[in-house]
Amino acid sequence: MLDIRASLDAPAAPPVIRREDYQAPDWLVPEVELAFALDPARTVVTARLTVTRNGSHDRPLKLDGEELELLALRVDGETREPRFEDGRLVVDLAGETAVVETEVAIAPEKNSQLMGLYASGGILCTQCEAEGFRRITFFPDRPDVLSRYRVRLEADRQRFPVLLANGNPVETGETADGRHSALWQDPFPKPCYLFAVVAGDLQCNADTFTTMSGREVELGIWVREADLPKTELAMQALKDSFAWDERTYGREYDLDRFNIVAVSDFNFGAMENKGLNIFNTRYVLADPETASDGDIDAVAAVVAHEYFHNWSGNRVTCRDWFQLSLKEGLTVFRDQGFSEDMGSEAVQRIDQVRTLRAAQFPEDAGPLAHPIRPDSYLEIANFYTATVYNKGAEVIRMMRTILGAEAYRKGTDLYFERHDGQAVTCEDFVRAMEEASGVDLTQFRLWYSQAGTPTVTARLEQDGGRTALYLKQHVPATPGQPDKQPMVIPLRVALIGAESGREVAPERLVLLRGAEQVEWFEGVDEPAFLSINRGFSAPVIVEAQRRPGEIEALAAGDTDSFARFEAGQELMTRDLLAAIRNGGAVEVEAIVAAVGATLRSQSLDPAFKADAIALPSESLLIEKLDAADPARVHEVREEVRRAIGTRLGEELRRAYTAASAADPASLSGADKGLRRLRAATLALIAAGDPALGASLGQQQYDAARTMTERQSALMVLAMLGPDAAGQALDDFYVRFEADPLVIDKWFAVQASVGSEGTLEVVEALQQHPAFTLANPNRLRALAGSFAGTPSAFHRADGKGYDWLAEVIVAADKLNPQTAARFVAPLGRWRKIEPGRAAKMRAALQRILAEPGLSKDVFELASKSLG
Ligand code: PHE
Ligand code: ZN
Repeated sequence: MLDIRASLDAPAAPPVIRREDYQAPDWLVPEVELAFALDPARTVVTARLTVTRNGSHDRPLKLDGEELELLALRVDGETREPRFEDGRLVVDLAGETAVVETEVAIAPEKNSQLMGLYASGGILCTQCEAEGFRRITFFPDRPDVLSRYRVRLEADRQRFPVLLANGNPVETGETADGRHSALWQDPFPKPCYLFAVVAGDLQCNADTFTTMSGREVELGIWVREADLPKTELAMQALKDSFAWDERTYGREYDLDRFNIVAVSDFNFGAMENKGLNIFNTRYVLADPETASDGDIDAVAAVVAHEYFHNWSGNRVTCRDWFQLSLKEGLTVFRDQGFSEDMGSEAVQRIDQVRTLRAAQFPEDAGPLAHPIRPDSYLEIANFYTATVYNKGAEVIRMMRTILGAEAYRKGTDLYFERHDGQAVTCEDFVRAMEEASGVDLTQFRLWYSQAGTPTVTARLEQDGGRTALYLKQHVPATPGQPDKQPMVIPLRVALIGAESGREVAPERLVLLRGAEQVEWFEGVDEPAFLSINRGFSAPVIVEAQRRPGEIEALAAGDTDSFARFEAGQELMTRDLLAAIRNGGAVEVEAIVAAVGATLRSQSLDPAFKADAIALPSESLLIEKLDAADPARVHEVREEVRRAIGTRLGEELRRAYTAASAADPASLSGADKGLRRLRAATLALIAAGDPALGASLGQQQYDAARTMTERQSALMVLAMLGPDAAGQALDDFYVRFEADPLVIDKWFAVQASVGSEGTLEVVEALQQHPAFTLANPNRLRALAGSFAGTPSAFHRADGKGYDWLAEVIVAADKLNPQTAARFVAPLGRWRKIEPGRAAKMRAALQRILAEPGLSKDVFELASKSLG
């Protein structure tokens, strides 16, 4: 007899899914009819699938299903006994086509994973990407099965007066017992991950957009009644997005309706379901009183992102989930272009690179490194990463840089036209680019397969009239990829005269292809400084050999504003790292001089100044060190902030006062820039003179007319300690008690204070009646902020790690996807000094020892231990 005890004791490790194992689906599902008898406690879903055999084979139809109570199964009208194999419903079919009907019951109000059909604040809504549809009905839940959907919703009219699904409304009706119904039809075949329904007591901000071919589209943003006034900014962004995609990519919207619904409980930012986007309230609801300028910009960017998916993701979708960057990298690149065109390109680029460095570089340098097109996974939800999204966008940007804007646009036209209605691969995208441009991208494809951030070392040598730029590249080993080949690295380069300050060699595009390469410049008749990777043309780390005074000169006058910002950062990083490493006194002269020059400049705009005077973050410095002592990093960085604050007190106060002129009613780039500079200068003033910082901070808090002013003042006060912050924190809570998104800020501010005592504050906040592990925004506000604040998280006694591990384990029982997002900070142990590193590993081990761990957390925790 078979001994099954062993397999019962130790749950089998989840199977590895591999890209190379892809096989086309055995059965297609051209038509789907769904009927929902909606009820939060028990919803019955009836599905009628028309299936057709794909190719010639005799394999059965296999349907994914998860937490479904199967009530009935019929094939061509005949009841069947269900048969399950490896958790899937197996249906033997003799003919080439069949109608397969299932009836299942699900419990939306018990669904704490927020995948499938769930309840959020009285609204019933769905989330299906990546594999949530199987929690709604039995289905081949994979993106290469495209179907036309007809969806009938039926619910209590009182509780759920609004019933929405993808596509166009067909009819509505009354049924017995105060229930009503709506029928929706989506004419475009789509993968099931784009399916959505919503039922709730919602109000609509309605508007219209006339497309370039003259069709009128009804736009609706659906929210709870009280939130209606906060939907105007999102509506404007939506109309701007429609127009931008027509103008920039020639892409027109295709349905008569476009709806957005906002829900408070959501695992990510938003979801591009066909014609029915579902958003985290955080990326819809905004007004200047309750949302900061940064929040408002994020609303516009996410609205644009989800709208742009209608082409890059929906009309042309992914063949399998390894191709995720096909839609996400491209769509992030598209939303970045939108933000650049709507705001200031230079400031946008600095923000984009900041995000990349803060989130993606550490990922690429750590145990979770993966190519933008991964080769394997245990749980696909873990691969919605900064690498797939943000590095993926950089890869598209590099293609545009190499091909030129015109050929790039030809390439996207060809891609959309050729693959409309198909589920395709990253390879299909690159091939369209090649065919449209005639450029061979063979070597460039390594960006899709090789993980790790390349380092480029650069050295300029001048000898008489000839100037040589010696370049080398190195792509580091990453998990599973010990040896790397040289990539194509597009570097925008110019030479700046050391005496004249002008471009003695105008900008050119250097394609670094080899491990080593020399680039020649003729006619450079004065000593020159190297301006390289201008505009951040490639997502690489540049290590340039600098002459004395070079970096200072570039920080003061590089002709490319991004490169100028970079030079300032390089200068600051150089001196901060030197002080951290040598353990002695900090050399602040160069930093103080650079910050002073920036503040005094008449030509720089305020937003740029705000970026340029900010020191690199503690996390960034830790990434650049081996065996970092986070306490030392904090100490040195604080010392430099103090020195700036003291030495430049007058300049800072002058800039602070001038920046107070921002018009609170205006969201122009100029006014946002002023508010940004005001926040940056206040923080430095407080570093130099805590008493002055406290009084200015309190004044700014009390007089604040916008959330930008109020939140930045609150953060400065919180950093100064409980005495300075107490009154403002209490006021903030009472003032915004009814607004969950603002209360998230109240939690986040307190959890972001960089001090060893923050943990005790965080533990107390965890007991606060407004705290819940079940709401992802609230959990991110507390745990995400805390883990993202090195000097709080990396307490020498390791209690910060223990706390996070406990939160991960507790949250995992409710919501594995969101719990898994907090594992990465513990995986950074390789960068930390041995004492703390051992405690970080121990925390990971304790997580792994937990019985019943989800695949999500298991995958990241085990890979993080390495
Ligand atoms: N596809 C969404 C986006 O990037 C992200 C998302 C993934 C949302 C999974 C929910 C679940 O626009
Ligand atoms: Zn997306």
